[in-house]
Amino acid sequence: MKKILLSHSRIYSGSLILVNSKYSFSQHAPDVLTSVGRQKDILMERQAAVLLDKLMSEINGWDFIVPVSGYRPFEEQQKIWDDTVKTDGIEFARKYVAYPGHSEHQTGLAIDLGLKQEKIDFICPEFPYHGICQKFRELAADYGFIERYPSEKEAVTGIGHEPWHFRYVGVPHAKIIKQNALTLEEYMDFIKVHTYNANPYIISIGNRRVHISYLNADNISRTILNINENCPYSISGNNSDGFIITEWRQLHENQTDTDNRLRARTDEEYLTDSHKKRRA
Ligand code: DAL
Ligand code: ZN
Repeated sequence: MKKILLSHSRIYSGSLILVNSKYSFSQHAPDVLTSVGRQKDILMERQAAVLLDKLMSEINGWDFIVPVSGYRPFEEQQKIWDDTVKTDGIEFARKYVAYPGHSEHQTGLAIDLGLKQEKIDFICPEFPYHGICQKFRELAADYGFIERYPSEKEAVTGIGHEPWHFRYVGVPHAKIIKQNALTLEEYMDFIKVHTYNANPYIISIGNRRVHISYLNADNISRTILNINENCPYSISGNNSDGFIITEWRQLHENQTDTDNRLRARTDEEYLTDSHKKRRA
């Protein structure tokens, strides 16, 4: 077992943070940002950018799709909000632009995509449910992305239907969210009943049993976690009161990973394996 100390501030970072009208993004900026697609000025958090580029390579997506908007600093979100209120009115702005401080774009984990064409609407780019855009949509969850604002869930997300806005949450969370037709709000509620060390949500993926669970850290300055270091794991804050722990355990508890490479495995590497299988 390995002892891990999590400071309270880590609740507000990680690929599963819920950012919406209730929960603001409190950090100044993500740690590492990198460009996506063929434009150097659209940035995303590194892991999200790598996975997006892999997905696009699989479908030659960057030949037909452009990244319209990725990471936005607070000031940019403020300007988009102000401009939209001026040009389209407050109702439209509330429907399609998150209030400054409350946008997923500030996290570097969200991307707006548009079909490559002469005129592209910056706020509502065209990203239809057919052709190359649909091909992207169908593979998105395999690479850790979800369509964040579905049409029938406007009351839950507080945002209008946005077929162009994708959010990186990582594997296997995106797949679970898609299979159960959930929003990120609903997934966070769902995971909360699966408490760490007591009642994990378990799914089988390949030769792994993935344990997903919630660890409450409200009002605690430091959380101490004893984690099995023989399996890969990731920890994300939920942006309100705790952490989501994802452990990629062996199918048989008594097995251990002898390969050190496996211990350091990330979503990215997991994807490479499953991807190879699909191609085989
Ligand atoms: N269009 C989404 C909701 C944003 O502004 O973050
Ligand atoms: Zn967006």
